[in-house]
Amino acid sequence: MMPDIFELPGPKSNSVEGSLLDFGRDPLGFLTKCGREYGDIVPIYLGLTPACLLTNPEYIEQVLKERNLFIKSRGLRALKHLLGEGLLSSEGDSWLRQRRLIQPIFHQKRITTYGNIMVAYTEQMLKTWHDGETRDIHQDMMRLTLNIVMKSIFNCDLSDQAAQDVAHALDVTMNWFDKKRQENFAFVEWLHKPKDISYENAIQQMNKTIYQMINERRTSGENPGDLLSMLMEARDEVDGSQMSDRQLRDEIATLMLAGHETTSNTLTGVWVLLSRYPEVRHQLLAELQQVLGERPANITDLPQLPYTDMVIKEAMRIYPPVFTMAREATQDCEIGGYQVPAGCMIMMSQWVMHRHPRYFAEPEVFQPERWRDDLEKNLPRGVYFPFGDGPRVCIGKSFALLEAILLLATIARKFELTLVPEHPIVAQAAITLRPAYGVKVMLKKVD
Ligand code: HEM
Repeated sequence: MMPDIFELPGPKSNSVEGSLLDFGRDPLGFLTKCGREYGDIVPIYLGLTPACLLTNPEYIEQVLKERNLFIKSRGLRALKHLLGEGLLSSEGDSWLRQRRLIQPIFHQKRITTYGNIMVAYTEQMLKTWHDGETRDIHQDMMRLTLNIVMKSIFNCDLSDQAAQDVAHALDVTMNWFDKKRQENFAFVEWLHKPKDISYENAIQQMNKTIYQMINERRTSGENPGDLLSMLMEARDEVDGSQMSDRQLRDEIATLMLAGHETTSNTLTGVWVLLSRYPEVRHQLLAELQQVLGERPANITDLPQLPYTDMVIKEAMRIYPPVFTMAREATQDCEIGGYQVPAGCMIMMSQWVMHRHPRYFAEPEVFQPERWRDDLEKNLPRGVYFPFGDGPRVCIGKSFALLEAILLLATIARKFELTLVPEHPIVAQAAITLRPAYGVKVMLKKVD
């Protein structure tokens, strides 16, 4: 008879809440403690939900590979209210069909057209920046990445009313989700509570605007080459079918949500780290000056910017925008020789693995050079996975990496950003890992 994972050592708790309060109060600290003090599988009770944390990369890979045995957790499924049957929250055949349809749109070759949008919007933002001023760089990055995603999806920018409506709705709904999650300390308990009015109104407003944009596009027959047109034209290679308006809405809401805050948080993390490690900043600037001189960056520069690339990789190691992921076992199964019951929530944390001393020397230190000599390829799978892994790996990975590198190169070539000393930098583990109080920086123009 196989032993049960709940026979393994894990955090003790005598109450019905289990470790829910500890997890809710300080998710990063709690996960780190579990990851360092116990074994490869750490059993945890989150309220009445049996759960575990995996810290063995082999097991992480196994779970991420098996999309039917391990489905998205209840917390993520709750996003369905907002995202419907979009890629992030759907399962089974409906997910597979959509993934097949959308995958080609995100191929390296096609996303290169977005490189120009990314640089143009960044340069437009830089025109409003001044030497010596103080800014909240978190807000700036959020606005910039939202602008880029709006232009890439709808060919419109935040000065258009429709884009503002969608952006506002996204903001209200995401704040609502974060607030509920914090109030209830877990993904599970609040799911069946009534929704509040401003949240419902925001979703309705967003739906109205997105449907209007789809309709206008259908009526005008225009094709500006944005993601909306590509999604509308995509045909299933098996049965030739196209997406319904409802599917288009779900995918658009998903892409906007998944494609904006994560990239923004990556860059905000970069600015924090560069300010704390001036020698890295100097080396980065040297590469940018040598490769770009006075001209703007573009996609063909990427192979000449290896240090810039390592800075992004290392920042995502230290501050992974998605700090933990979860799956739910659909049936009794086995991991590492232990029995896992159906319904068990399985957590895999980038925060824990990316800072694990078994795989990274001086894990707390920002050291882009560590990625030299193909470290990423040489690490076991399941150690470094900022974009997830397996069949449900982030579809926007190439888009996000392209965006992160181009934005970093464009901004760092023109400005040096230094943290305002008295401003607290606190990592908040919300839906994504983000700075709780923003990030205040002082700007210095680079000659
Ligand atoms: C640095 C930026 C980003 C990070 C760190 C990130 C991270 C992730 C992770 C970890 C997952 C897997 C979630 C899971 O398996 O439970 C994921 C899925 C996804 N991401 Fe990203 N992402 C980023 C940017 C983007 C962008 C730019 C887009 C689109 C424009 C995007 C769209 C998606 C979608 C649609 C999924 C669901 C894929 C599926 O299940 O088939 N992401 N992302």
